[in-house]
Amino acid sequence: MDLYEYQAKELFAAHGVPVLPGDVADTADAARAIAEEIGQTVVIKAQVKTGGRGKAGGVKLADNPDDAKTKAEAILGLAIKGHITRKVLVTLASDIAEEYYFSFLLDRTNRTFLAMASAEGGMEIEQLAVDRPDALAKVPVDPIAGVDKAKALEILKQGNFPDAIIEDAADVVVKLWETFVSEDATLVEVNPLVRDPQDKVVALDGKVTLDENADFRQPEHAKLVDKAAEDPLEAAAKEKDLNYVKLDGQVGIIGNGAGLVMSTLDVVAYAGEKHSGVKPANFLDIGGGASAEVMANGLHIILGDPDVKSVFVNVFGGITACDEVANGIVGALGKLGDEATKPLVVRLDGNNVEEGRRILAEANHPLVTVVDTMDNAADKAAELAAAGA
Ligand SMILES: Nc1ncnc2c1ncn2[C@@H]1O[C@H](COP(=O)(O)OP(=O)(O)OP(=O)(O)O)[C@@H](O)[C@H]1O
Ligand SMILES: [Mg+2]
Repeated sequence: MDLYEYQAKELFAAHGVPVLPGDVADTADAARAIAEEIGQTVVIKAQVKTGGRGKAGGVKLADNPDDAKTKAEAILGLAIKGHITRKVLVTLASDIAEEYYFSFLLDRTNRTFLAMASAEGGMEIEQLAVDRPDALAKVPVDPIAGVDKAKALEILKQGNFPDAIIEDAADVVVKLWETFVSEDATLVEVNPLVRDPQDKVVALDGKVTLDENADFRQPEHAKLVDKAAEDPLEAAAKEKDLNYVKLDGQVGIIGNGAGLVMSTLDVVAYAGEKHSGVKPANFLDIGGGASAEVMANGLHIILGDPDVKSVFVNVFGGITACDEVANGIVGALGKLGDEATKPLVVRLDGNNVEEGRRILAEANHPLVTVVDTMDNAADKAAELAAAGA
């Protein structure tokens, strides 16, 4: 889960990383009130889960409360890379002597944690990484050894941080590592980490991604979820522990195993080219044990998507054999009753496939078409979706 900047900074503050005072607002009047409370020049910052806000006009200085209100009005509602701004952070403006870059992240390719640091931070860091990769230090971090002050200094020296502030910056880095570890983050990024004219080191921006696999031991993280911004179907699926991602097509997809579902998306997208360009409406992996209940939950979510015109159930029987899956489908349709209104194309293969197909044939449900191969089933599902659209 990605956090908003204001949430990232609340975590920073809780772990002793220096941040500037501020608060979040969802109306221009509320922004004005926060600016009045701060009583000095403030910065109004769009709270959207994407970078490049500064360049998109989502970060503006305001000299006084009325100005803050005007700037907040301009930023609220602003679309930044497709993200609509619903909240702004109103925070104290800082004088900036220098801008640095610092991050900890999970480096999946090298199976390690990685620290990245550069004395040349700010808004152009992606460009810097391309043009002058040497200016961006990349230092692996041993998860057991972690980051103490000596390690922090080693990283910052490689990033060419100036001597005058390197000690202070190292203290900040140790606290960022504490944040990274104790919050189970996969990313903690500060760009810019700034040096102010008094040589204090402050995090002016914050980007944090939390590892949802650790949610079970991070009960506090539940309140960081932005319910209003969540897709309602995805939220409902999450509640049922289903691996569901909403896409923008018309063919609902259910499969068992992430790999099979991914390739099903490709096959349906390909088949759709011949049928008015219909596309997959979702990713849904119901996993190994496809019981009637899990199947019913999955179908319930997919049929609740008004964009869905047909459903492709693509199951490869393994430990859960095809006859169990077939019973699951029949049971699910029975459970759903009148709610099941859209045609279902079912492709079964693998363990006990003959018995599975026999069960579906015997049930003879009017909405269900059984097709033998994945390609033909995808074609049928796309055809039905195009007809229903
Ligand atoms: N509190 C502040 N006081 C003064 N200037 C600020 C403040 N916050 C941000 N800025 C300036 O605005 C620039 C952009 O802000 P910030 O980095 O937070 O957003 P961003 O452009 O979305 O960054 P990114 O692309 O890294 O997500 C900063 O590099 C800094 O120069
Ligand atoms: Mg930034």
